[in-house]
Amino acid sequence: MKYEVLTMLYNTDKYLSGETISKKLGVSRTAIWKYITLLRSEGYKISSATNKGYLLKRDYIPLTNYQVLQNYDGDTKLYFFNEVNSTNTKAKEIANEIIDNKALVYSRTQQQGRGRLGRTFLSNNQSGLWLSYIYKPTITPEKATIFTLAASVAVCKLLKKECQLDAKIKWPNDIIISGKKLCGILTEMSCEMDKINYIIVGIGLNVSQLSFDDSIKDIATSLYLETGQKYDRGLLIGGLCYNMDNVYEQIINNKIPDIISEWKKYALPMGQNIIIHKGKEQIEATTITINDSGHLMVREVNGEVNAYQSGEISIRGIMGYS
Ligand code: BTN
Repeated sequence: MKYEVLTMLYNTDKYLSGETISKKLGVSRTAIWKYITLLRSEGYKISSATNKGYLLKRDYIPLTNYQVLQNYDGDTKLYFFNEVNSTNTKAKEIANEIIDNKALVYSRTQQQGRGRLGRTFLSNNQSGLWLSYIYKPTITPEKATIFTLAASVAVCKLLKKECQLDAKIKWPNDIIISGKKLCGILTEMSCEMDKINYIIVGIGLNVSQLSFDDSIKDIATSLYLETGQKYDRGLLIGGLCYNMDNVYEQIINNKIPDIISEWKKYALPMGQNIIIHKGKEQIEATTITINDSGHLMVREVNGEVNAYQSGEISIRGIMGYS
């Protein structure tokens, strides 16, 4: 019922009296007041004025299941939290309990967001999308890398459609705008020799940050910093879910080459001089392409051509971003 009240408030930009809402929904004005209180506690800004009623403010829209469901009616099961340590960790717990092939875990905040290679991912605030998709595909484990590439494509398409931004992908998992990182992806998997139990695709996208800590301000950006606009996170998650549904269909229907060719369209140009960090080793190389398995092919200074998987290296030196 509280969401019926919210829908009524959404459908007008004028004050709506308690009486009008209560008549339409067939409940008392006291009940309406209780629903308004509940909606406020979820973060909706609803002003009230004597003899006028209630007005929903649009300058800040909280992240709620309602907001996502207004923008997505596909078959991905949704798990929403106010706070978790890490949506990837939460998604692993949920993956072990559910039989669905697809689900999404998203949270307003993360206390211990995780990045690639054991790094911390700053997300203990409500300024971004912190979410993890769970998939249980019947493909073999060595094809799992495609999920990171597919998610990168899904994010770039979302940014183009909803924010008119031409984002680029830095292999394997960073989404870059104006030389700075807007979004990172952490894919994790539980598998046996020839069978995937589940894959978790964790996506962290900076949305409304006005600034970043000194330690990352030169390498991080947000949608707000790039466009000057505020975005409804539910709308972004809804759009991303459709894009993820599409790439998942491609993966399970054996259309991996289509994803790789789309990925190449969004990728930073190849032929860049980079430094590969592999454990304690540093290797100077030039990027060539990604191969059919999604591995990065490079020509190293000694002339050798090698392919690297995403889990084993990090790279520096592309467009000033490290
Ligand atoms: C990286 O850039 O190294 C990857 C960052 C991935 C961050 C996301 S936020 C949602 C999900 N939960 C996590 O703990 N990490 C991923």
